Amino acid sequence: MNNFDFYNPTRILFGENRVASIDEYIPGDARVLVLYGGESARRTGTLDEVKQALGKRTVFEFGGIEPNPQFDTLMKAVELARSEQVDFLLAVGGGSVIDGTKFVAAAIPFEGDPWTILTEHGVNVRAAMPFGTVLTLPATGSEMNINSVVTNPKLHAKLAFKSPYVFPQFSVLDPTKTYTLPQRQLANGVVDAFVHIAEQYLTYPTGAMVQDRFAEGLLRTLIDLAPKIVEGKNDYDARANFMWTTTWALNGLIGAGVPQDWATHMIGHELTALYDIDHARTLAIVLPSLLRERRDVKGEKLLQFAERVWDITEGDDDARIEEAIVKTEAFFESLDISTHLSDYELGEEAIEAVVKQLEAHGMIALGEQQEITPDVSRRILQRSLKA
Ligand code: NZQ
Ligand code: ZN
Repeated sequence: MNNFDFYNPTRILFGENRVASIDEYIPGDARVLVLYGGESARRTGTLDEVKQALGKRTVFEFGGIEPNPQFDTLMKAVELARSEQVDFLLAVGGGSVIDGTKFVAAAIPFEGDPWTILTEHGVNVRAAMPFGTVLTLPATGSEMNINSVVTNPKLHAKLAFKSPYVFPQFSVLDPTKTYTLPQRQLANGVVDAFVHIAEQYLTYPTGAMVQDRFAEGLLRTLIDLAPKIVEGKNDYDARANFMWTTTWALNGLIGAGVPQDWATHMIGHELTALYDIDHARTLAIVLPSLLRERRDVKGEKLLQFAERVWDITEGDDDARIEEAIVKTEAFFESLDISTHLSDYELGEEAIEAVVKQLEAHGMIALGEQQEITPDVSRRILQRSLKA
């Protein structure tokens, strides 16, 4: 295991009816900007619940943050926060609203062009406004991490930044908030979390027993829960376990001191930026092919994955690894998430376009070994072309 710092100051307020608890963690005299997405927060009543919990504080609202939040939209929130001298932000939504709020929090005090927060991936962030979150979609882990992904459609760019200044101060995790989610978003959440774990686990062994067992437990939990989650019944225990799994999939613990891949995400972000495919669906296209392409360097961990996650113990090494990848693909497909480019009406031309964008964004040495060059990315996508 490598040396590591592990620090996560986000307070989790977990359970039903916890929105009211935000009152304890926001200063009584705060000027609060509540940020949300389209209409779901209002339609489901969560926005009203939040406003009630904020009581007599001065509250401003900023709605309209898109899925895959857009730079220009977020800059309007920055302007509003500055002009109204807001001093606390509250995100109500899924990963897009929370990521957008992190960007707004960092951009408010930022001197210089805020787009550089993304092009420099956050190393230039020196301060951020405090914020909390009310999570309505379990998937990204953004409620308990320092990552944010912002899209600039004019540039066909979807870029990530991270900064220890954008840890949420608190996050409300109320599993009943997931009851209004459509099947598509629930399935996306399962796959996004699965791939977050895979990106931190399917690399090479470093003797990190806690991180490995934790990752395997989270993967098995997702596999067990998935059918119950997508069938759409409002089963509190299933949703509570699901929500907690997605948070732990990307709150830093399983990634501490171990090599990490993230090439699936970087290639996936280009697919979303170019073709507007849901984040999780891009991951389902890329991951199985990436595992096949990188089978040699990931072999030991893939065998461990086959045995400990999928209970595959028979056959030679190659057969067990292939079976584990086939099961992973079948798992995604069982959630109605297609795993090939052709399923999204994309062909060879899309592969070249993605590779060009990866080069433009400096994504030329990806993966835990920095060996995923544009040529390797091209081969990965070619494997994903058709079933
Ligand atoms: O916009 P509204 O009307 O609110 O509807 C949203 C949106 O259309 C809807 N929704 C959310 N909660 C709901 C609901 N509908 C009914 N009931 C509810 N309770 O769901 C739709 C999708 O929401 P979005 O926030 O876009 O989804 P998700 O949480 O999957 O976030 C995706 C974004 O997060 C980034 C992705 O790249 C993408 O931009 N990621 C962030 C990460 C991080 N910060 O660590 C890591 C991830 O890998 C990912 O890259
Ligand atoms: Zn993701």
